[in-house]
Amino acid sequence: MKRIVSNHKMNLTKEEVQAFEREVRNWHPKKSELVFCPSFPYLSYFDGTNYSLGSQNVAKTKMGALTGEVSVEQLKSMNVKYTIIGHSERRNLLKETEEEIKIKVGLCLEYGITPILCIGEKEEELDRKEEILKKEIDSVFQGQSIKNIIIAYEPIWAIGTGRTPTQAEIQETLQWIKDYIKENYQISCETLYGGSINDQNIEMLNQIPSIDGYLIGGASLKTEKLKKIIEVVEGEYDARYN
Ligand code: PGA
Repeated sequence: MKRIVSNHKMNLTKEEVQAFEREVRNWHPKKSELVFCPSFPYLSYFDGTNYSLGSQNVAKTKMGALTGEVSVEQLKSMNVKYTIIGHSERRNLLKETEEEIKIKVGLCLEYGITPILCIGEKEEELDRKEEILKKEIDSVFQGQSIKNIIIAYEPIWAIGTGRTPTQAEIQETLQWIKDYIKENYQISCETLYGGSINDQNIEMLNQIPSIDGYLIGGASLKTEKLKKIIEVVEGEYDARYN
């Protein structure tokens, strides 16, 4: 069972997202779980039963006075099952700190929402990738007991750029993440890959043994591209006839 997570980021208008949902609610993937992470105002449009709902963020405190934020309890009440935490756009552009990311992971776990923790190196950090990933993992895991988490490895230089690491590099990094977390924190965790996934490279990516799923931005906004990606993951896509 692979997980396909569609991260809408700050895209789509109300009409566009409603049309999107009307289409995807008729999809019935058998071997994968589809998770849609729309912008907050649109969460209630995603009430279908053939997919799961995720959020792109969560507030770092519980319910109460924090203008403009959305709490974990509110997300839970909207049937949100997954929350993306620590996306590089939030870390780098919105200056989200490791301490905040750690708190958000803890809050999600307390409320039974599975955190999808994003980690990844910048291009200039490629020669010390493991050091960067270790720091991003340790800062969340140290001092709290984590039993259930999904790690999304997203090289920052691959997000929205059309560039991806090679098959071998992705395999090596995902397996390294699994081994590191198993060895140091005694849990087996699912590892997703993210960064410029599209309907052209999904066949290459889908052959990587340690990939448990995909975190997809741009290509997941177009239903025809997303559909092809799902078909490849489900093993139903035959390039000869398409
Ligand atoms: P992308 O984004 O697929 O558009 O590269 C992925 C992500 O940022 O999660």
